[in-house]
Amino acid sequence: MSAAGRRPPGPPPPPRPNRDPMLTLAVIKPDAVQARRAGKILAHLEAAGFVVRAARLVHLSRGQAEAFYEVHRERPFFGPLVSFMTSGPAWVLVLERDDAVAALREVIGATDPAEAAPGTIRRVYGESKERNAIHASDSPATAAREVAFFFTPAELEQLGAAR
Ligand code: CMP
Repeated sequence: MSAAGRRPPGPPPPPRPNRDPMLTLAVIKPDAVQARRAGKILAHLEAAGFVVRAARLVHLSRGQAEAFYEVHRERPFFGPLVSFMTSGPAWVLVLERDDAVAALREVIGATDPAEAAPGTIRRVYGESKERNAIHASDSPATAAREVAFFFTPAELEQLGAAR
């Protein structure tokens, strides 16, 4: 093999999606972190083609959880949802992939694990509609809001995740 055909020395470059890469937000919820399923869920996401561009372990305050789920404020499950989301640490992840928002929704499955397709993260790791292991942004506009909720533009830029 000619020298021109070889990779330069050093670790291989991280896999980069080649079609319209975009960002979305995932939250590995307190039930999954507490059950020590976060690593398996992250492996599932990476195997599905997502690249982690930013990550942080957070323990949400009541105010943060209420603001994050503001759109659900009038729903009957809002109070229990906020209590659950503040019950322990959660991983927030900025994920990149082509068609990331739709792809992540497909990979995590339906809100209720019992209704989620076989092999989806919620089907495999979720316990109930509330304790359903993972959250994902539901539209590109929501993804932009949710990424900005947890990470500053400077942090994203420093991590090479700025758009
Ligand atoms: P998530 O993707 O985090 O967005 C809102 C969350 O509310 C949802 O996942 C569920 O965990 C939770 N939830 C609890 N009860 C319901 C319900 N009846 N309908 C929809 N979401 C619910």
